[in-house]
Amino acid sequence: MKSVEVKHVPILKDDIVQALVEPFARVSSDSPACWLVDCTFGGGGHTDAFLQAFDSSPALRRHRILALDQDAEAVARGRSRFHSAIELGRLEILQGNFGDAAQLVEQRSVLGLLADLGFSSDQLEDPDRGLSFHRDGPLDMRLNPDQGRSCLELLQQISEFDLERILRELGEERFSKRIAAFLMESRRRGELPTTTKALVDLIVRATPKHARHGKIHVATRTFQALRIAVNRELEVLDQLLQDVLPKVLPSGRIAVISFHSLEDRRVKNQFKNKELFHPLTKKPIEAGLAELEVNPRARSAKLRIAERLPK
Ligand SMILES: C[S@@+](CC[C@H](N)C(=O)[O-])C[C@H]1O[C@@H](n2cnc3c(N)ncnc32)[C@H](O)[C@@H]1O
Repeated sequence: MKSVEVKHVPILKDDIVQALVEPFARVSSDSPACWLVDCTFGGGGHTDAFLQAFDSSPALRRHRILALDQDAEAVARGRSRFHSAIELGRLEILQGNFGDAAQLVEQRSVLGLLADLGFSSDQLEDPDRGLSFHRDGPLDMRLNPDQGRSCLELLQQISEFDLERILRELGEERFSKRIAAFLMESRRRGELPTTTKALVDLIVRATPKHARHGKIHVATRTFQALRIAVNRELEVLDQLLQDVLPKVLPSGRIAVISFHSLEDRRVKNQFKNKELFHPLTKKPIEAGLAELEVNPRARSAKLRIAERLPK
C-alpha cells in the first residue's frame, strides 16, 4: 500500500447524506436492520459521513453500510482506516465492480445506494495509474490494474476506425481523426507512446498549432476518452442502472454523481422509468460556490436522486 493519507474530498456530502439516510429513519424498530450501499468507496468520505449520520441517533445506529470499490488499494486503505466500524459489524468493505453487484444488493435489505462515478483524486495523483496528463507514468489508466487491458494494450490492438470513434464519442475531441491517425502511424513505426508524457507529446503534435492553447489542456479529451474505454465505464454504468438499482427496496433512495454528459444522460433516462423510480431531482444538483472554492473537482459534478417505487 502506498499511502494511508486520503486526499479525495467527498462531493455534495450533505445533500447525499440527508437524502439517503431519510428512509432509514422511517424503518420501524421491530423490522430488521437495513443496508446502505456505497458503490464507490474511494477515500471513504461519503461512507464516513453515512456512519456519522447513523451514529447520530439510537434508532439509526443498527443500520449497516456495505462499501465497494474495484480498486484493491482503496479497499485496503479503507479497511485499515475504518477497522473499528468493521469490527463492530457496522461496515463491510469489499473489492468488486458495481456492475456485478446485483446479487449482493438482492441478498440484503438495501434502502439506500450511492454511486459517485469515475476516479478519486488519490488515483489521479498516483503516477503509476497513468490517469493524469500532468504526471508522467505508464500508459495504464485501469482503476483495477488486475483486470482488463491497459491503455497501451488497447492502443496496440484497436483499429483506427474504432480509435477515432472512441476519441470523438467519449471525449468529444475535435481532432479525433488527426490524433487517431498520428497514433496509428506511431504504431506502424513501432513507436507507440508507452508513457503519459509521450502520449501528451503526440497529442500536441497532432493538434493544429492554433488550437494548442485553449481553455482546457490539449490532452484532456483524449485522456478522458481512453480512460472511459479502458475501464468500460459506460457499459458498467448501464449494468448498474439496469441490473443493480432495481434491487433496491421500494421507498429506498438512490444517488448518482456523474461527471460528464454521457453518464448523466443515462442516469436521467433510467430515473425516468416510471415503473421503477420517482426522480427527486428534476434538474441535477450541482456544487455551490463555497464547495467549489475548497474542491474545484466538484465543478463538473451532477447529482441525481431517485426513490425506488413499490412494485
Ligand atoms: C469519485 S471516487 C469516489 C470517492 C468517494 N465517494 C469518497 O468520498 O471518497 C470513485 C471511486 O469509485 C471507484 N470505481 C469506479 N468505477 C467503479 C466500478 N465500476 N466498480 C467499483 N468501483 C468503481 C474508483 O476506483 C474510485 O475509487
